[in-house]
Amino acid sequence: MECFEVTGGTALTGRVRVTGAKNSALKLMAAALLAAGRTTIEEVPDILDVSIMSEVLRRLGCDVRYERYPHGGGGGRVVVDVPDEPATETDYDLVRKMRASISVLGPLVARCGSARVALPGGDAIGSRGLDMHISGLERLGATIESEHGFLVATAPRLTGTSLWLDFPSVGATENLVMAAVLAEGTTVIDNAAREPEIVDLCSMLTAMGAVIEGAGTSTIAVEGVEDLKPVTYTTVPDRIVAGTWAIGAVMTRGDVVIERAVADHLTVALAKLTDAGAHVEPLADGVRVAMDGRPRCVDVVTLPYPGFPTDLQPMAVALAAVSTGTALITENVFEGRFMFVNELVRLGASVRIDGHHAVVRGRERLSSAPVVATDIRAGAGLVLAGLLSDGVTEVQDVHHVDRGYPDFVQQLRGLGVQIERVQRPD
Ligand code: UD1
Repeated sequence: MECFEVTGGTALTGRVRVTGAKNSALKLMAAALLAAGRTTIEEVPDILDVSIMSEVLRRLGCDVRYERYPHGGGGGRVVVDVPDEPATETDYDLVRKMRASISVLGPLVARCGSARVALPGGDAIGSRGLDMHISGLERLGATIESEHGFLVATAPRLTGTSLWLDFPSVGATENLVMAAVLAEGTTVIDNAAREPEIVDLCSMLTAMGAVIEGAGTSTIAVEGVEDLKPVTYTTVPDRIVAGTWAIGAVMTRGDVVIERAVADHLTVALAKLTDAGAHVEPLADGVRVAMDGRPRCVDVVTLPYPGFPTDLQPMAVALAAVSTGTALITENVFEGRFMFVNELVRLGASVRIDGHHAVVRGRERLSSAPVVATDIRAGAGLVLAGLLSDGVTEVQDVHHVDRGYPDFVQQLRGLGVQIERVQRPD
């Protein structure tokens, strides 16, 4: 088992560069399937999930290469060579490791007329249904069966139609857009997700020759085309990684320049940090976040974009746990996302959960203890909490953190933090 040993008491200071967003890069890699030939994706984070998606594509017949940039920052280039006739099956051994593997479903049905994709497991942060992915594809003309743990989709050619989502699901919006780009006629998706990663995917698809309007709004219109061409494309910077460093700077009363962070993609989160007393300064190519004194508690409500991101909720709880006053944190996107709070309480945080609300009473300092990362973001939140704990906090099961944060230890060290990766017997 791999752990992080975090020594508390250091303020985050200095510069850190964020590479492309995990949640975008994985879908851009899936989108490569839509065109035969060589697609190159820049600023892809060097993380476990990208290796898993590379393996998903390899088993579909693609040749996939990752070239890490020499200048640091944890990014690199993915080169995908897509065959004329990709295979169409994705197994459970991959999908269970990473739920985002299901984003090959839309492109495969659209391009190959069929797909067999195992039903996912994924993060322990709620039930995470697939009903909107399935009903959307069915409305586009696919037949979908569930057999022996697989979703089996078939459609000789999808046909554009009007679709709506009960909830602006990121994954469903992406799968449906990737299916609609090769459908016959026009597809309109109402109540679509508006995340910057959706805009990024639509920009790459447009560069490939797709015809898409309204990306970044609740209504996306896609006019199907006959075929797409491969492209070279650069992934949007990771707003969740950037937000993690920003919150860390405020918690530890530090001063950090987050290079490549896009302030406009973090409007609500940065406004919350300003309310907490931080100095937030958008720069030409990044954001500076500085804090002098102890932060004030601020209430946070997670919502689909442009609301406060659910992926920064664990860091918001950690921030409140060391601020003055009391904060109400409300989770509206994933049930079960407060699971990590039990671990935070082991560090001495005062948190009471009531359904999808957490009441957090701030403490001056926390107290180090062994804790377990339950998912990617919970792991990062616990490390930040460890920075405010006396002594050395051991965060276990850090393979979760490796799924989403490239060079996590090196980046924190670059900001002055004492953190080690250590092996422990299971
Ligand atoms: C993506 C992100 C994840 C982020 C989330 C919300 C990736 C790889 N992951 O996840 O980091 O936290 O967006 O911003 O990009 N739902 C259904 N039925 C469906 C689809 C979703 O009920 O068919 C529910 C889910 O259970 C969840 C909510 O909708 O409660 C949001 O899910 P969704 O937006 O789809 O998140 P993901 O795409 O899985």
